[in-house]
Amino acid sequence: MTSRTRISSTMTSIKQILPLLTLAALTLGGVGVACSDSDDDEGHGGWVRSRADVAPVSNPNDSEECGACHMAYQPGLLPADAWARIMDPTALADHYGDDASLSEELRREIAAYLSANAADLAERTRSRAFALALSSGTAGGSLPRISETDYFQRKHDEIPARMVKDNPRVGSFSQCNSCHRDAAKGVYNEHQVSIPGFGDWED
Ligand code: HEC
Ligand code: HEC
Repeated sequence: MTSRTRISSTMTSIKQILPLLTLAALTLGGVGVACSDSDDDEGHGGWVRSRADVAPVSNPNDSEECGACHMAYQPGLLPADAWARIMDPTALADHYGDDASLSEELRREIAAYLSANAADLAERTRSRAFALALSSGTAGGSLPRISETDYFQRKHDEIPARMVKDNPRVGSFSQCNSCHRDAAKGVYNEHQVSIPGFGDWED
């Protein structure tokens, strides 16, 4: 009696766990394959297309507060010192021309989250690319921008202004999710780009 109960409860837990195991195996498999793809710039096959290039935002306060005016940028898109400059209280009050001030409690929490998961600390290759020095233009007084990193500019230098700044449905390179369909999931690969009014990007 007891043993039967034990068996059936074991069966149930195996049934419950099985999908999780499959998922884990798939995830591990994906990571394994992706590791051999050490150069994130070239040769993406179909299998890698849905893999996140940077880890998605996992802090609800960041999603809510920093996603109010533009998409909440993933911490892996900028190095820690850049996030520290952006999250400075004085800087938040004059945030690229807007007031993005927060309560001190929220500011501290979001700043800590961004720094702890910043590009220079993240493992993913795409984040490592973003971690490299910002272009000299941002070294001075103005706030750092993801869209001004050397890596970003190299990746976007073929896109004409009529598709971005002069495109009323985009407006600026800061609007990652206007063109990168799965930007919110941290997916930025060039095969999942569709520019509003111009369609899929064919390189
Ligand atoms: C009140 C609106 C508002 C809020 C809230 C806000 N931002 Fe912004 N943010 C802006 C504007 C406006 C820009 C400039 C966009 C442009 O140039 O098109 C910007 C730009 C940025 C950029 C640079 C994007 C680029 O071009 O690389 C970063 C990084 C950024 N914000 C981070 C944050 C973080 C982190 C938070 C939360 C603490 C936040 N923002 C909250 C309005 C806001
Ligand atoms: C106007 C549309 C547009 C906006 C806005 C935009 N991108 Fe892109 N992005 C592209 C296109 C198109 C490509 C592919 C360029 C190529 O292959 O020549 C690309 C490429 C990239 C790549 C390299 C992908 C690869 O497979 O090599 C990354 C990373 C990236 N974008 C990140 C971002 C981030 C982060 C933002 C916001 C700060 C952003 N992009 C905003 C259109 C855009």
